[in-house]
Amino acid sequence: MSLPPHAPVVPDTPTPTPPVRWGLLGAGHIARRGAQGIVDAPGCELAAVAARDHGRAGTLAADFGCDTTYASYTQLCADERVEAVYVNTTHPWHLEHALLAIEAGKHVLVEKPIALNAAQATQVFDAARAAGVFAIEGMWTRTLPVIREVERVVGDGEIGDVVRVEASLSLNLDYDERHRLFDLDNGGGALLDMGVYCCAFLWLFLGRPDTVHVMGSLAPTGADQVAALQWGYDSGAIGHAFVTSRGLAPGRALIVGRRGYVEIDPKFHHPAGATVVVDGAPPRRIQAPHQQFAHQFAEAARCIRAGELESPLVPHADTIGVMEILDAARSELGVHYPQE
Ligand SMILES: NC(=O)c1ccc[n+]([C@@H]2O[C@H](COP(=O)([O-])OP(=O)(O)OC[C@H]3O[C@@H](n4cnc5c(N)ncnc54)[C@H](OP(=O)(O)O)[C@@H]3O)[C@@H](O)[C@H]2O)c1
Repeated sequence: MSLPPHAPVVPDTPTPTPPVRWGLLGAGHIARRGAQGIVDAPGCELAAVAARDHGRAGTLAADFGCDTTYASYTQLCADERVEAVYVNTTHPWHLEHALLAIEAGKHVLVEKPIALNAAQATQVFDAARAAGVFAIEGMWTRTLPVIREVERVVGDGEIGDVVRVEASLSLNLDYDERHRLFDLDNGGGALLDMGVYCCAFLWLFLGRPDTVHVMGSLAPTGADQVAALQWGYDSGAIGHAFVTSRGLAPGRALIVGRRGYVEIDPKFHHPAGATVVVDGAPPRRIQAPHQQFAHQFAEAARCIRAGELESPLVPHADTIGVMEILDAARSELGVHYPQE
């Protein structure tokens, strides 16, 4: 079996100038980590924060030395100083909010999953391309140094042809129908929240599967709480993805080749290291601490200043392909969102 073509690993480039000025659309849980990523990323600056609750926008902005805040997303997108928007609302809002920013001529980084389904993801990317702006899903895993080095190791054939890839993630939550992970109105479900990482990882090292088998179970709200996907390839390669919002798993990922394997440190979606084992040689460590979200914002800024509309690290086609698999898996499990 030959490996699927890999996105080229972008070499480190000079800091983009002038800095890209980012606006935060939303000021919830993940917005804080996004703000940190922006201030840590070379070539990025936090210009404004918008939230439905103006006070909350103000608190977040002040914590990161930003003095422009809005109580309306429309006002944020009308701010000419804002060049790029980080959409960090919950998934059902991603399409509407990404389109709002794109239509105002802003570049966008949209939190994962980019939207509720592949059709919506395609809408976002088509609109961005038509407007001539950069768009990327916040699949930060693919921008992290360890994952990029593992891509190189596997791409160079060090472990031989890939025959199996597995990835799992979990959240050990008590059932609460109002929690985002269980609330269908708010895009609930383990597949869209965590499965998107596992599937993006399988896709990175195996490409599009020829067959997919799905098993799982639903919470009383109808949101998936356990999902296991088995990907099959005509070559004989196999992929396994497992997610649950009702259990505690370490978050492992493993890439098995004909001559060796790579084990990614948990949690695999933001690893600080990985171990490469090649038959007959002592294990080798890849160690590369990362700066959380800073890598994805730095990559977005690099693309924006280079005039690129998508990043080779997180190509649109891969994002859509993964969403198509999640669509099919949800359909088989019977998970439907009211906004679809
Ligand atoms: N990359 C990662 O590691 C990571 C980790 C966790 C989450 N995420 C992603 O980030 C996104 C947000 O997750 P979160 O945990 O930050 O969620 P959250 O705190 O519950 O909500 C984020 C924001 O979404 C808006 N929002 C939430 N519920 C809404 C509703 N019912 N109606 C209208 N707006 C609503 C609010 O915006 P306002 O602030 O304007 O009120 C809220 O602050 C999700 O898509 C999730 O998958 C990514």
